[in-house]
Amino acid sequence: MKHRTFRRLVAAGFCTLAVCAVLPRAMAAPAAIPLNAPRRLNFDEGWRFFKGEAPGAEQPGFNDSAWRELRLPHDWAIEGPFDSTQNPHTGALPIFGTGWYRKSFTVDAGFAIAERHVSVMFDGAMNNAHVWLNGHDLGGRPYGYSSFFFDLTPFLNYGPTPNVLAVRLTPEDHSSRWYPGAGIYRNVWLDITAPVHVGTWGTYVTTPEVSADKASVVVKTEIRNQGKAEAKITLETSIVNAAGAIVAQTSSPATIAADGTQTITANLTVTKPNRWDIDRPYLYTVVSQIKQPGAKTPSPMAASGVVDRYVTSIGLRSIAFDKQKGFLLNGRAVKLQGVCDHHDLGALGAAVSRRATERQLQILKAAGVNAMRTSHNPPSPELLEFCDRLGIVVMDESFDMWRRAKVVNGYSKYYDEWSERDVRDFVRRDRNHPSIIMWSIGNEIPEQNSPTGGDEAKRLTGFFHEEDPTRPTTSAFNSPEAAIRNHLAENVDIPGFNYRPWMYEQTLKEHPGWIVFGSETASCVSSRGVYHLPVDKYEKHPSLQLTSYDIIAPSWAYCPDVEFLYQEKLPQVLGEFVWTGFDYIGEPTPYFGGRNATVATDWPSRSSYFGFVDLAGFPKDRYYLYQSEWTKKPMVHVLPHWNWAGREGQPIPVMAYTNADEVELFLNGKSLGRKKRFGEPVALPVGANVTGGVGRTDKDLIQDGKFLSKWRLEWQVPYAPGSLKAVAYQGGKQVAVDEIKTAGAPAKIKLVPDRSVISADGDDLSFLTVRIEDKDGNLCPMADSLVHFSVTGAGKIEAVDNGSAASEEPFQADHRKAFSGMALLIVRSTGAPGAIHVTATSGGLVQAAADLTARK
Ligand code: GAL
Repeated sequence: MKHRTFRRLVAAGFCTLAVCAVLPRAMAAPAAIPLNAPRRLNFDEGWRFFKGEAPGAEQPGFNDSAWRELRLPHDWAIEGPFDSTQNPHTGALPIFGTGWYRKSFTVDAGFAIAERHVSVMFDGAMNNAHVWLNGHDLGGRPYGYSSFFFDLTPFLNYGPTPNVLAVRLTPEDHSSRWYPGAGIYRNVWLDITAPVHVGTWGTYVTTPEVSADKASVVVKTEIRNQGKAEAKITLETSIVNAAGAIVAQTSSPATIAADGTQTITANLTVTKPNRWDIDRPYLYTVVSQIKQPGAKTPSPMAASGVVDRYVTSIGLRSIAFDKQKGFLLNGRAVKLQGVCDHHDLGALGAAVSRRATERQLQILKAAGVNAMRTSHNPPSPELLEFCDRLGIVVMDESFDMWRRAKVVNGYSKYYDEWSERDVRDFVRRDRNHPSIIMWSIGNEIPEQNSPTGGDEAKRLTGFFHEEDPTRPTTSAFNSPEAAIRNHLAENVDIPGFNYRPWMYEQTLKEHPGWIVFGSETASCVSSRGVYHLPVDKYEKHPSLQLTSYDIIAPSWAYCPDVEFLYQEKLPQVLGEFVWTGFDYIGEPTPYFGGRNATVATDWPSRSSYFGFVDLAGFPKDRYYLYQSEWTKKPMVHVLPHWNWAGREGQPIPVMAYTNADEVELFLNGKSLGRKKRFGEPVALPVGANVTGGVGRTDKDLIQDGKFLSKWRLEWQVPYAPGSLKAVAYQGGKQVAVDEIKTAGAPAKIKLVPDRSVISADGDDLSFLTVRIEDKDGNLCPMADSLVHFSVTGAGKIEAVDNGSAASEEPFQADHRKAFSGMALLIVRSTGAPGAIHVTATSGGLVQAAADLTARK
């Protein structure tokens, strides 16, 4: 059955090299920084790591030769082990403790003569980072999701004397409601400039007017002069199209005072712009060049008199929020078909990977996802880069808590001292991304219930507006009534509702000026390929898995169909953000008593069941329910699996999800009848929140305590082994087919790489799906065979998984049990070009092999 997934993903264009290409890093990280280094230099290679206290490790003379050598990004917690005594809400992994990182490097002696300035940028370090260069204290950053930088110049050694950058992290237990990871889990960069240069995050590009005919583009450039003398410069600002041609250009002379900063505004026009859109995410580049005749510029740009060159990727689009039409992108109404996702990348943990990020977004996009909420924190720069490239709009979120704590060691400890700085840096870092459409000032902030909530929202919204007046602020409310009462809701531009679709209409009536949306919806839970009969709503299941009939949800939540109802009814509601697209590590609701429990009772349940894609990246049935509502290309999906030995003759509920007019079901070639989409509704068990929710208007859709969904088709099929086939028709013509066959005994392994050619850059990944099949190639839906992997040549095993939320097997291993017949092997290129040979073996099964290639 799961074979169907691959055919669809391949058909969706996932697995071509062109789509999956990963850009090379700026440059392999150097032990020695040469004089002609580019402005932005990747600094991930050659670090040493130690987990534990290391007194004196900030001093350059400290002996770290026994420390482990590694390459960043690095997440020490994902290395495990899973531990039943640790908090399952953060994944039962070692997310706390002290970790040290050190890196030695030399800087060309010419840097001093040329007055080169060097700063270091951390895209994110989890958390409580403290940084030293050559024993000098540079400072710290508590929030693990903030990007931060320090000027290294005052403390640099030039020539052969090495420099030592030392970082200490002290993440604490009970600091998060989900798995945060631990370590320098995002990329590190050096920023190398002349004394006169564009500041870090120093451009701000807005597009006040964008039409098919022309786009007006305003580029504000902050120029810093860290030199000792006044500088006469010319700033040349160009807009370059995707083919590399300059489509608009302007020059501005300026005099920048010694040790001064000046912002220069350039107004440009692009005629007949290629507008950025979700279907055609066209990107331009703003190139800002500073020319300073006579400057000491022994840099790659010296010959042309250019002392600094700064590049900003942009998109030309207009966004608007309309009371009647909802969200408008380039003037066209677009319903937000969004997901909330946490930042972990499954078996890779929090460690940022370009390809893993891109793969997640591609899988989501194929379900019709057009919007992403970065729950509940600033994301990696790579996530935003791929949202820009793939055409996914973003609700960029700052915080999960303010001053009032949700967990004892959470951000509330740092809020007073750091919130303004964290917000301003966040916006300055992210505001040029065309994908971002709104800023969230926080998720389910406990101050919804505090008298100061309104003032605090006003303060934060003020910072966002000062840094970026072009986008609205929002906040996600789980107590909207309270947030309305205490004025929090009116101090954001667009209030978001978590799990309250029945409140949209009434709220809009009471506040006719407002625009609203579902900032968090559904929270349905399921395990891929697992079905429990009868189809009943339950709290927990002894298997520690949850049925994939897509009906189980905690008390505050509901199945996807309930939200579909309200979104369809109210076109002016902007849309929804489903909790969640992907499963994530931690928060294994409903196990461990849900989100508030402290006692470990359901071991080894340790990651979430909320995703419509599992942790390994395999779609669950719910993926297709969303696809049926969100996409137009004809599709049909049928569930459950068809291996019910012992239940011969007994009725098995069979559901089909389709976007076509009707579906005909066949059992062993015999028609069981056609059913129309939106015809006879299917009664789904739901919770009291849905049947008796505040302000509900759709009592006619509740029958015997069940919700009548028109989004599903259902048959009761007396079980007989063989073939169960769903045929979808549009206008009477067959347009899509899905077929499940009863599988025989497990006989062989199949390996399916998502890409067989990867970059030989030490960073790129191939994701290989492992299927346990019977002799005829049918997926064995209950197989849990233990599979061993071997990878030789220019690749190595990075991680393994199977998507089960209740497994204590390590992610970093050369073996994995299948779960519901499938597992995942992630192979990383070693950095060298060449062939990669992968084999998978399991006792009693015919083994499988795959040949990959790593190319420079
Ligand atoms: C929400 C919360 C999310 C997650 C979700 C689970 O209330 O904002 O972070 O906990 O519940 O349903």
